[in-house]
Amino acid sequence: MKHISPPKASHLIKAEVNHLHFSVLDSTNAWAKRNADRLEPAKITMITASQQTEGKGRLKRVWQSPPDCNLYASFCFFVSLKTDVSNIGQVMAVSAVEALKELDFKIDLKWPNDLILQNKKVGGILCETTAIDDLLCVIVGIGLNINMESDELKKIDQPATSLFDSGNRQFNVDEVAVLLKKAFQNNLGIYFKEGFSPFYQTYRDLNASLVGKQIDFQSHNKLWQGGFKSVLEDGSLEIKLPSGESKIFTAGEILKK
Ligand code: BTN
Repeated sequence: MKHISPPKASHLIKAEVNHLHFSVLDSTNAWAKRNADRLEPAKITMITASQQTEGKGRLKRVWQSPPDCNLYASFCFFVSLKTDVSNIGQVMAVSAVEALKELDFKIDLKWPNDLILQNKKVGGILCETTAIDDLLCVIVGIGLNINMESDELKKIDQPATSLFDSGNRQFNVDEVAVLLKKAFQNNLGIYFKEGFSPFYQTYRDLNASLVGKQIDFQSHNKLWQGGFKSVLEDGSLEIKLPSGESKIFTAGEILKK
C-alpha cells in the first residue's frame, strides 16, 4: 500500500472473464492455487462452487459454506512478479458494494475488506497469491451470505447475517455472481490503469462509521488497541494509540469495536 503510482497490467483492462462452476469444492481459493498453472494468463478466471467443504477465512478461520445458498467465488488473474496488488481486496470490496447496491442493499465496510450489513458481517474477502514461473497468480476469494438461514448463521463465530436474513427475501445466487463479475471486471481494469485513487473516496466513505471508534486490532500476530483515526489515500489504516501517537497499518484485522 506504499506506492501511489498505478500498478501497470494493461492486459487486465477490459479482460475477458472465464467462469468455471463446480457443485462441490474444498475451497475455490484452494482449487485456484492448485490449478493456477492451467489457467489462461491473459484472462480473468472466476471459479465458483455451490458448496465448500473446507472454506477458508482470514486468520486461518473456517468460512461456513453450506450448499446452494451462498456465493463462494475466487477471481484469478496474472501479473508480473513485482506488481503491487496490495489494494486488490479493497477493490473487490468496493465491487461487491456496487453489485449489492443494484439489489438495493446498503453495505458498509470494516477495514480492510469485511462487508457489513446492519452491523453484521455479510461477506468476506481472502486474497492469496502463488507464483507460476515469472508470473504472480492473484486469487481474490469472496464469500457472500445470500440465502443463508438463521440456524446456519448461528454457526459463525461473530455476528453474521445474509441478504435473506436481513429482509426475508430470497435472491438468485447466479444473478448476484453476474453483478459481482461485471463490477469486479470493470474495477480491475480501472485499478490497473489508474491505481487506487479512483476508489479512495468511496472506500474511505464506506469505512466512515468506524472513525473515532475504539478498536482491538491484530496485525502480524501483535495486538493493538486504539482509536480508528482515518483511512489514508493508499488504503492503509491510521490508528491513534493510547500514547497519543498515530500508527499506520497496511495489513491486519479489527477484532472488536
Ligand atoms: C474472511 O474471513 O472474511 C474471508 C472469507 C473468504 C471466503 C471466501 S469463499 C470463496 C473463497 N474460498 C475460500 O475458501 N475462501 C474464500
